[in-house]
Amino acid sequence: MKITFEEIKNRKSVRTFEDKLLEPAAKEALVSFLKSNQTGPFGSTARFKLVDLTGAGQEELKQLASYGNIRGPKYFMAGVVKKSTAAILDYGYLMEKNILAAMTLGLGTCWVGGTFSRAGFLQKINAGAGEVVPAIVPLGYAAKNRDVSDTATRLFVAADTRKPWKDMFFDGNHETPLTEDAAGSYKIPFAALRYAPSASNKQPWRMIKDIARFHLFLERTPGYWKESREDIQLMDMGIGMCNFDVAAEEIGLKGVWKIGATVKGKEGWEYVATRQ
Ligand SMILES: Cc1cc2nc3c(=O)[nH]c(=O)nc-3n(C[C@H](O)[C@H](O)[C@H](O)COP(=O)(O)O)c2cc1C
Repeated sequence: MKITFEEIKNRKSVRTFEDKLLEPAAKEALVSFLKSNQTGPFGSTARFKLVDLTGAGQEELKQLASYGNIRGPKYFMAGVVKKSTAAILDYGYLMEKNILAAMTLGLGTCWVGGTFSRAGFLQKINAGAGEVVPAIVPLGYAAKNRDVSDTATRLFVAADTRKPWKDMFFDGNHETPLTEDAAGSYKIPFAALRYAPSASNKQPWRMIKDIARFHLFLERTPGYWKESREDIQLMDMGIGMCNFDVAAEEIGLKGVWKIGATVKGKEGWEYVATRQ
């Protein structure tokens, strides 16, 4: 399956789903993609499953698929990893690729990392000891009209906006903003990272271009969920890395993620990894 910058640019979270079965060919293609997409850039293995609730009873639907702002999902992508820092990054990376693959098949999705039945999905996916479901993704055909709660969520988090380049991307150090011109051939991967979804649209990625190395840092939103759930902003980092890689690879810019910064981030930023 060919995933491109187009999918990255056109993706938007879908929270209002049509009551429609997946086309069999799309379902088959997605299931096979999920099987092929299991090892993240930091080497952890995730196991993904397409959870189909079309035959589920009222109780099960209520337990697994009822959310205040998400209407009518009958399918979910869910996965398990053994919990670790690397695994949360890898989960973000791999699930984002699943989302882009689903888009190529005409399917809408929305990351859900907040409230969902963790116990219910652990059971659905036959999780083993020490495995966690860091987030799930409802999936299906987008309804023609958004539900009001969907529209309200989008307004609340300003989902259609992104921070300007100068607040996210830096040139050689953490103070000098990177211009689009100075990004050179990496302008598109940077743009792809900027389009990525993030929890509550906080966009916590910061990146310093250091000649041909790209250092990724996390600027946490103070007080944001770190203690109580999986580290959701770390997942955002993996998501951004996926977008960066997909866009870079499409234009032939190869690279790998390594740990080892050669520049310092701003005070308060957490170093994540370097693409080189
Ligand atoms: C890790 C993660 C967790 C998220 N959790 C939720 C959630 O629990 N509920 C929800 O409605 N949206 C959730 N979102 C969706 C974001 O709000 C959305 O991606 C962001 O507002 C940007 O909008 P867009 O995806 O349409 O570009 C989550 C996104 C990410 C990346």
